[in-house]
Amino acid sequence: MTQTPKACVIGNPISHSLSPKLHGYWLKTYGLPGEYTALQVAEADLEATLRHLPEQGFVGVNVTLPHKVDVLQFVDHISDRATLIGAANTLTFKDDGRIFADNTDGYGFISNLRQGAPSWDPKSGPAVIFGAGGAARAVIVALADAGVPEIILTNRTRAKAEALRADFGARIRVVDWVQAGTVLEEAQVVINTTSLGMKGAAEFKVPLDGLRPETVVTDIVYNPLRTPFLNAAEKLGCTTVDGLGMLLHQGVPGFERWFGKRPIVDEATRQAVLA
Ligand code: ATR
Repeated sequence: MTQTPKACVIGNPISHSLSPKLHGYWLKTYGLPGEYTALQVAEADLEATLRHLPEQGFVGVNVTLPHKVDVLQFVDHISDRATLIGAANTLTFKDDGRIFADNTDGYGFISNLRQGAPSWDPKSGPAVIFGAGGAARAVIVALADAGVPEIILTNRTRAKAEALRADFGARIRVVDWVQAGTVLEEAQVVINTTSLGMKGAAEFKVPLDGLRPETVVTDIVYNPLRTPFLNAAEKLGCTTVDGLGMLLHQGVPGFERWFGKRPIVDEATRQAVLA
């Protein structure tokens, strides 16, 4: 008899994670047998946890902070996109005991952008990215893969943006944080990958008045859903895409692999996760 497939999200802390609501909603909607839970895992317990979960009927896990980079050392196969991003968020436990690592954050980012701004053509011109952390890496890989011709990168700590240029090559132009406002008019799409504007974090203070109304603006912050960054862009006439959809779409490939059905991200999915 086959066991009910189980999956979970691992992180530390984990109580804030929306993934159990997301996968739980999909399991219910599609009437599939399966369970999806959240598991707090300390750094020191990461390897042992990954070894024991398959024995308990788990078919895979989502990985969130602070484990996304560390998990790579405990897996058997790493997808190209996870290798490029240098982190994994989706692990699949194979029947033969091997662990496959993938990163669907960039996929989630680009799928959300395409859904929220269907008229955006990646090849039409530059992207401006605020921030040079782990999230920026996933966004850069996704934009480059989609054919964006130039990526203008700006970060408070310039050296981190330069390091990303060293990794990802000549398609990236680094601009000083204090000068970021001056390149906005060149952008077809502008992305905030910093934590600025998140509930409890500092405000986003870079002036956005250089934005053209044709530019699409998106934020990876989704708490609050409407960030001051998105509100300012909207006032200038830009199409804006909030960050919740990135989280929803990044869950799609894992759900399909573990539970056997490719789920749809629609308004009902958003409402279920926000409820
Ligand atoms: P993540 O993996 O989610 O991207 P991270 O690696 O900690 O998180 O990166 C956070 C990003 O937010 C960085 O680009 C950081 O800028 P620095 O590299 O200069 O630290 C940016 N960030 C955080 N607080 C900021 C602030 N007050 N002003 C400007 N940028 C900030």
